[in-house]
Amino acid sequence: MILVTGGAGFIGSNFVMDWLAQSDEPVLNLDKLTYAGNLQNLASLKDNPQHVFVQGDIGDKTLVADLLVQYQPRAIINFAAESHVDRSISGPDDFIQTNIVGTFNLLEVTRGWWQQLDDDKKAGFRFLHVSTDEVYGSLALDAPAFTEEHPYEPNSPYSASKAASDHLVRAYQHTYGLPTLTTNCSNNYGPYHFPEKLIPLMIVNALAGKPLPVYGDGMQIRDWLYVKDHCSAIRRVLEAGRVGETYNVGGWNEKANIDIVKLICQHLDKLQPRSDGQSYAAQITFVKDRPGHDRRYAIDARKIERELGWKPEETFETGIVKTISWYLDNDAWVDNVQTGAYREWLASNYGSR
Ligand code: NAD
Ligand code: DAU
Repeated sequence: MILVTGGAGFIGSNFVMDWLAQSDEPVLNLDKLTYAGNLQNLASLKDNPQHVFVQGDIGDKTLVADLLVQYQPRAIINFAAESHVDRSISGPDDFIQTNIVGTFNLLEVTRGWWQQLDDDKKAGFRFLHVSTDEVYGSLALDAPAFTEEHPYEPNSPYSASKAASDHLVRAYQHTYGLPTLTTNCSNNYGPYHFPEKLIPLMIVNALAGKPLPVYGDGMQIRDWLYVKDHCSAIRRVLEAGRVGETYNVGGWNEKANIDIVKLICQHLDKLQPRSDGQSYAAQITFVKDRPGHDRRYAIDARKIERELGWKPEETFETGIVKTISWYLDNDAWVDNVQTGAYREWLASNYGSR
């Protein structure tokens, strides 16, 4: 079986569902269920014996050691993290704890268990660390996209904590020979995306008649990838990636934030027009910028295409329509994630902007 950490979050839950739809190999899913973890994402697996869920922390060495001995996974895919940049600015502690200390504990326990496996199992084992393009920092408008050789220049507590975890993974491969793989992916979007991030927040706020808060001038650029394409890239890297290598994953899809927000409004105008006949674009509101806001990310995904034959299947135009339709069809999911804690976050992040 494989051990997936953070499998109740946005990308992790999509990964687990896609994996079990395509494979008979069971998944052990270890997730702490922070505000971002949601078992409703996995409701379709409720009666599936191939999915074993354990609530727990990747930093809990005793728990992880017991799980490794009991389940003997052939691979670990580490999605577990604090993932929201704005939250890392207002409260970095959890990011240091989970993304750095948690990943370190997970690596350390994995190393101890892996070292006593027999030679075949040792060689076949993989530790795949899911990371981000944000570790590379911000790009000038005319600079070439990030390759795997780009220096690490993280600018937020979130990206610095992910960069630290990437370095630990690298060190465990280099020093102890642990068979690791790292993926650095661009911005994902799609079903089950928590509505604190740009795309789901805009869809949910638009439908609720609330302002659509665009940071600064809205000209920051992100490179968007449909979440299921990220999942297929991870499966491919796990299957055929070269040990010790890192692979950039992206959608060749650079877009300015303001253009994304306008596009969402245009689609909503067609799919669920406002009762007053106005466009949802009337709700766009420019607000104070994110401190240290990275201007542009762009991924050069030629290595994973060249070496592993992976390419994204979805275009932004098809992916965004699927995503908006999913949110329109799943208002119960949206209502359920909008808990008290989430409302408090919205008040503290946007109240002063
Ligand atoms: P998410 O915030 O939606 O989910 C994170 C999950 O990790 C949640 O289920 C949470 O409960 C769990 N978790 C948090 N701390 C934990 C801990 N200490 N132990 C166990 N579980 C814990 O995040 P996401 O957007 O799904 O991102 C998943 C991974 O992919 C992260 O490592 C992130 O850095 C990386 N990534 C995300 C994106 C993106 O656009 N969302 C892009 C590139 C890389
Ligand atoms: O690049 C990969 C990263 O993408 C992942 O590693 C992170 O986990 C993920 O959260 C995401 O980070 P971003 O900061 O790029 O995503 P976010 O959705 O928070 O913001 C996207 C852009 O939209 C960014 O330039 C900030 C802007 N924005 C965001 C919000 C929430 C707004 O203008 N208004 C908003 O309300």
